[in-house]
Amino acid sequence: MKKIIIAIDGHSSCGKSTMAKALAQRVGYIYVDTGAMYRAVTLFALQHGLFDKQGRPLEAKLEALMPQVSVSFKLNPETNLPQTYLNGQCVESEIRGMEVSSHVSPIAALPFVRQAMTRQQQLMGRQKGIVMDGRDIGTVVFPEAELKIFVTASAQVRAQRRYDELKAKGQEASFDEILKNVKERDYIDSHREVAPLRQAPDALLLDNSNLTIEEQNQWLIQQFEAHTQDGPEN
Ligand code: DC
Repeated sequence: MKKIIIAIDGHSSCGKSTMAKALAQRVGYIYVDTGAMYRAVTLFALQHGLFDKQGRPLEAKLEALMPQVSVSFKLNPETNLPQTYLNGQCVESEIRGMEVSSHVSPIAALPFVRQAMTRQQQLMGRQKGIVMDGRDIGTVVFPEAELKIFVTASAQVRAQRRYDELKAKGQEASFDEILKNVKERDYIDSHREVAPLRQAPDALLLDNSNLTIEEQNQWLIQQFEAHTQDGPEN
């Protein structure tokens, strides 16, 4: 069966990574969470005091330090899931907290950050057989991806999911704060100048507000099968 690139883009907290991970495991592809890469750069900026009092990144300083930022993934042998590393340290848990979440959008809007991450993502997809989730995978990173999905769900549903996720991990969370953060990120992600969040013309739209994870996974595997069957049209 031919190997393809699967690009899964969409709004924040709509379950993109859950579905992308499940699909990658099922079909034996590599999974790459590109949001985790922008989160790791944000954590680096926080660790180095590279935000002003209004929460804006100190761009020139970050740009000068970018060569020192190395983001990678390693499989956790127990869960068989990839974990994010920043300069050799596992940061999987830290990058999911509210501090990183509320600083990540302005970092992800910086052209020099996007350029560095996009280059790395394109290298990861050279051999195909990859499921990559993010905001600009089907539009900028892999415009030629064979299967593109654009995922969305209502802001309320997404905030509730993130709230439940943080609570389950025993982290402090306020639903109103999370909802505000979800809406702010939607706005910044889709209005930034470089690589804004938008549906590629050839992407399939999936609104999962009322779907179970099982229903969603089934739909996804059907799309995968339809796009990997060898036939005269492929
Ligand atoms: O998917 P996520 O919530 O972990 O993404 C974190 C942030 O990174 C979010 O504000 C959007 C941004 N992002 C991006 O700009 N481009 C990507 N390919 C992935 C994420």
